Amino acid sequence: MTYLDWNATTPPLPAVVEAMARAASEAWGNPSSVHAVGRQARARLEDARAAVARLARCDPRDVIFTSGGTEANNLALRSAFVSGSGALVTSRLEHPSVARVAEALEREGRARVRWVSVTGDGLLDLADLERALSEGPVRLVAVQAVNSETGVIQPVAEVVAATRRAGALVHVDAVQAFGRIDDVASGADTRSLAGHKFRGPKSIGAILGRPGVTIAPVLLGGSQERGARPGTTDPIAAAGLATAAVHAVESPARWSALAPMRDALEAALVAMVPGARVNGARAPRMPHVSSIAFPRWRGPELVAALDLEGVAVSAGSACSAGTAEPSAVLVAMGDVEAAASSVRFSLGEDTTATDVEAALAAARRVFVR
Ligand SMILES: Cc1ncc(COP(=O)(O)O)c(C=O)c1O
Repeated sequence: MTYLDWNATTPPLPAVVEAMARAASEAWGNPSSVHAVGRQARARLEDARAAVARLARCDPRDVIFTSGGTEANNLALRSAFVSGSGALVTSRLEHPSVARVAEALEREGRARVRWVSVTGDGLLDLADLERALSEGPVRLVAVQAVNSETGVIQPVAEVVAATRRAGALVHVDAVQAFGRIDDVASGADTRSLAGHKFRGPKSIGAILGRPGVTIAPVLLGGSQERGARPGTTDPIAAAGLATAAVHAVESPARWSALAPMRDALEAALVAMVPGARVNGARAPRMPHVSSIAFPRWRGPELVAALDLEGVAVSAGSACSAGTAEPSAVLVAMGDVEAAASSVRFSLGEDTTATDVEAALAAARRVFVR
């Protein structure tokens, strides 16, 4: 199988699997237990906290472990409206773990949501953001660092600066950015990450809160993670996350090195299929992602056909896979045709030129036969 779906999840590093196997036999205790078995597990957790803090350039005390990116985003949004009021400003580019929470907060009467417009290239419209910030009190701006479907890099520094000037809080969903770009939105009040996007295990992620920002729990229970996220944290997943975070800090250049391969794949596909076009082509994009609209074809059917030919890709985001829904992100960009007919190819640090050739050979069998 040629795996070109690294934005859905990344294959865990062999060193991550080894660290987890070791922790499963040596550090399976409850990290809250005070005895030696508990202390072994606690040490794995604190190692992971230090490694994540290094990756995120923050203090380990500002790292709160969650079950992944979805939970971290839920916590960030809900937390902001526990003790404050005002509008929630966000856009339809956001992952469902932000967009659905925004809609829920509005239904519950906790926040008015102001949806900022989006450019045809998949960027947040900064002029409309400024308008939104001037319309009345804003409590929170929620923006993604990188779009999972198009790979478009959002103007996070500008969003953070504008939000600061307006005196509001800013949350950055950095799930697709951590481990892939350097210095991810360090000015934000809260940021989210997920271990499985940078070669760690699934089921562990974190919310990073700037000192002084209170993270209020969504779940009620014990005092783990300073009461912000009750429940026993898994030291085995933490051991894997620590190894992945160290790897991400120590070998950051590998992602940018993917650009020539991505560009070659993209150019060959656009030349192969009449009318094919790259979504977000004129915006700054991550070097490993290509979302391509193939008009007159259906995205989910292309994914199935390429799967039969041995190539793993996706249409839309992994969390909406299996639904017949067109991509909400591409609809927000104003391209309804692309929303139904696009395929995302996302490469990773293990991708080789042979993988790209295999994908192109498979695409020729699907499109040209
Ligand atoms: C931008 C973005 N935010 C949040 C998430 C959710 O992360 P998780 O799968 O860890 O819940 C994803 C997952 O694809 C994502 O791409």
